[in-house]
Amino acid sequence: MVSKKNIAAVLAVSVAQVLPASLWASSEGSVRVEHLGTNNTLVRVVGEGDMLLFPVQESIDDARVNVLVDGKLDRTLNVRLAKSKVDYSVPFDLTPYKGKDVVLNIVTSQGRANVREAKEDACWSNIVVTDTFPVENREKYRPAFHHTPLYGWMNDPNGMFYKDGVWHLYYQWNPYGSKWQNLAWGHSTSPDLVNWTHHKAAIEPDGLGMIFSGSSALDPGNTAGFGEDAVVALYTSADVSQMQSLAWSKDNGATFTKFPGNPVITLESEARDPNMFWNKETGKWNLLLAHALEHEMLVFSSPDLKTWTLESAFGKGLGAQDGVWECPDLFKLPVDGTGEEKWVLLCNLNPGGPFGGSATQYFIGDFDGKTFTADTLADGTVPTKWLDHGKDHYATVSWSDAPDSRRTVIGWMSNWQYAAEVPTMQFRSANTLPREIGLYRAADGQVYASSTPSPELEAMRGTVVASAKSFKATSKPRVFRLPQANDGICEILLDIDSDKASDVELLLANDAGDKVAMTYSPASGTISMDRRESGIVDFSQDFPAVTSAPVHDSGTLSLRIFVDRSSIELFENRGRVAMTNLVFPTKPYTTLSIRTADKQARITNLKIYSLNPSASL
Ligand code: FRU
Repeated sequence: MVSKKNIAAVLAVSVAQVLPASLWASSEGSVRVEHLGTNNTLVRVVGEGDMLLFPVQESIDDARVNVLVDGKLDRTLNVRLAKSKVDYSVPFDLTPYKGKDVVLNIVTSQGRANVREAKEDACWSNIVVTDTFPVENREKYRPAFHHTPLYGWMNDPNGMFYKDGVWHLYYQWNPYGSKWQNLAWGHSTSPDLVNWTHHKAAIEPDGLGMIFSGSSALDPGNTAGFGEDAVVALYTSADVSQMQSLAWSKDNGATFTKFPGNPVITLESEARDPNMFWNKETGKWNLLLAHALEHEMLVFSSPDLKTWTLESAFGKGLGAQDGVWECPDLFKLPVDGTGEEKWVLLCNLNPGGPFGGSATQYFIGDFDGKTFTADTLADGTVPTKWLDHGKDHYATVSWSDAPDSRRTVIGWMSNWQYAAEVPTMQFRSANTLPREIGLYRAADGQVYASSTPSPELEAMRGTVVASAKSFKATSKPRVFRLPQANDGICEILLDIDSDKASDVELLLANDAGDKVAMTYSPASGTISMDRRESGIVDFSQDFPAVTSAPVHDSGTLSLRIFVDRSSIELFENRGRVAMTNLVFPTKPYTTLSIRTADKQARITNLKIYSLNPSASL
């Protein structure tokens, strides 16, 4: 349990930190509950404390909680207040209201026969004012080295920027439950992209609506007039309609002030996720906006972030079109080994991904500050390209102002098909490992994006728990043990010599019968991951799946695989394959078995590292 002055302090606890067991205060005396009818209850805060804990039951519909401060409506939250049992509690920060009168006017949506029935709801005896909230939550499936929110729901990473040695990560956050609702920008920071410190929400809902995804950047030229040291942010205000709003921060992204002239962009149709950057070539800001239902990205320009000119639209009829287009990003990179530079347009779409549900496609092309023109195949068509060939890689966007010209990205490690059903409770969803995007020209003449784990991740490596310089893989499995510490979290490296043209299977397994097969098939030029028997898979019919990626090059295939409690990320060493899949093994996987389908294959440089996330600090 953490005792604290305010909720910001309690959130400033590294996820790696383990805290002692919690003590809970009693609801008696800290709140006064008055029932007004079958669906309306007043809760008065009468006790002293920094926060109020809402008891949540996931399967219940949202109650509308109107927070009245000295009689005025301060905010409205939607909370699944517990009816028959408490799944977990979530804190509501009372510190801004010290010395003021706080009353919650709560409208529930459950059907009840009479007030007596309403009074029996589990929430009323468990709602409590306290100074403490347990953050030691270590659910079985909480990753050890991936970013997760301390509690509550998370979807898209967004608004990321780098400044003064600190990686700032914002994310779509519901602090009041582990399902999508009440979206604010959650905020975490890291010196190394592995160890994250959690902060108070940076941008919270207001009269224009919830705070949907967007972007941030530094504005050293003070083009917006908020100061040379300001961090500027654009996000979607989402209520009945979606519009784009501007905010700035003078304290390195901890708190933001909303621009009084918001919204700065309005349209007559659904558009969201503004992604802006300073275009050095034109001396103006550019902004991409997802014209979601039109399956296109709108391109804007601006001298000052406040007045925007619509320049063009890209994408109608191009690439994957089977879902809404969301979360764009646009940046320029050198093409490896050539003098060439190309623009990359990230376009997340949902559904319509290669294995169902959400996924990240991208286009390679040119951009002149007004129009993006995609590269085509010889026949003039624009090819569809995927940044990751797993099921759990979405809403991928990059950090602004990253050092050393790096283009570092992170994605949401889930899929809209089942994100709200995955078997976690107090928190829901993690982000992928951070990755570096590069460009290369493949044998087919096309430019592709590579995606390699960020170099910071190597510092996590602990001991080599298994290794083999070189051996012949045959149809008889060769078995290696995964580390025992930390539920077997590990990094696996190996090279597969494919000359013998036989399928090679890498099998992660435990003695409960859970298994994940990764199969390299030189004949078909693919690598696949089969999670159909990976553990708990029955929470959604869309979860059991085999995902597969093309392997463009023949010869030796070098693989790098990260296993972290509830995820597997497989990379070709140069990032030419990336595949991210969630798994929920009933027990941690304990072995890696390698075998071929029939002929032999040579495996070299096999190493299995234990991982120690805090070692990278
Ligand atoms: C993508 C998305 C965005 C939107 C956000 C809302 O996952 O739908 O388009 O801004 O989530 O949470």
